[in-house]
Amino acid sequence: MTETVHTPRVFSGIQPTGNLTLGNYLGAVKRFVEMQDSGIETIYCMVDLHAITTWQDPADLKRATRELAAGFIASGLDPAKSILFNQSQVHAHAELAWVFNCVARMGWLNRMTQFKDKAGKNREAASVGLFAYPALMAADILVYHATHVPVGEDQKQHLELTRDIAMKFNNDFKTEFFPLTEPVIEGAATRVMSLRDGTKKMSKSDPSDMSRINLTDDAETIAKKIRKAKTDPDPLPDNLKDLDARPEARNLVNIYAGLSGESAEKVVADHAGAQFGQFKPELADLAVAKLAPISDEMSRLMADVAEIDKLLGLGADRAAAIANPILEKTYDVVGMVRSRQV
Ligand code: AMP
Ligand code: TRP
Repeated sequence: MTETVHTPRVFSGIQPTGNLTLGNYLGAVKRFVEMQDSGIETIYCMVDLHAITTWQDPADLKRATRELAAGFIASGLDPAKSILFNQSQVHAHAELAWVFNCVARMGWLNRMTQFKDKAGKNREAASVGLFAYPALMAADILVYHATHVPVGEDQKQHLELTRDIAMKFNNDFKTEFFPLTEPVIEGAATRVMSLRDGTKKMSKSDPSDMSRINLTDDAETIAKKIRKAKTDPDPLPDNLKDLDARPEARNLVNIYAGLSGESAEKVVADHAGAQFGQFKPELADLAVAKLAPISDEMSRLMADVAEIDKLLGLGADRAAAIANPILEKTYDVVGMVRSRQV
């Protein structure tokens, strides 16, 4: 049998829960912009349906969705080049997720480390949505037949599950309808760590604001957070190997590399022998130079919420035009009668 060739198409999503962090920026959004500018078709989504798998205050969710849209655009995503929208406005995501809930196995979802982390000890109290989260994520991707998905390191397991779901669907229904999506986990900072603890991921939900840099932080706050970032007393070595047992130092080198676009190897070579008292101010200057313009542009965009909402609506129309026929075909393959004249 000849393999179906799926044309390249990029999809990725971010949850509108709280502020965009430097981790989101270096691990995801910066890659989104590069892929957009390489000329491939790109679709980027604010995944509000994923956000409500844990409690969100309704007013905060609306604000965070618009702020994420502003963050996308301020970081260089262009609504004329990429399709930008919020997930709940395109019904096909939730509908395909239902089909995938019936394809995915309980055992597969039980193994997801993000579920275990987020549900914590009291799994009985977690929402059903939190458990089914990865099936919705697979639907997000496959409802566009996306072939490439740029994400940070923490999403690798979910993308493997997406392939498993596509494979099982294709097998069960004797088709090659869904592509086997490739994760794109690239760059010097695919896992940015907390500024307070080099063994923990930098996260929007960490109770300590000092643990992360938010895209909305002003120059002074960014500089303060870097100055206070946990490190060790040793100077920087001249090679990366010697940073293996120094997670905080390694993290700051990775952040420098992610922001400057250089390799981590080059960053240590250039700063060999430097004390943190010298490296940190340089890193702070670099971070401010790269992030302050984004933060300024976000505030400017947030002053016109109606314009943001309009862009999201137009993006959703374009997204639905791709997703709806793929959903219809899926229903047909599965055996649903589709007879409405619309
Ligand atoms: P989330 O905020 O969980 O919706 O994540 C959105 C995107 O940012 C995903 O592609 C994540 O893998 C990526 N991401 C989140 N936190 C980090 C981090 N600390 N380092 C690198 N990438 C991250
Ligand atoms: N689960 C992703 C995260 O927490 C967000 C997400 C939802 C996503 N749907 C997606 C990422 C589809 C890539 C593709 O980071």
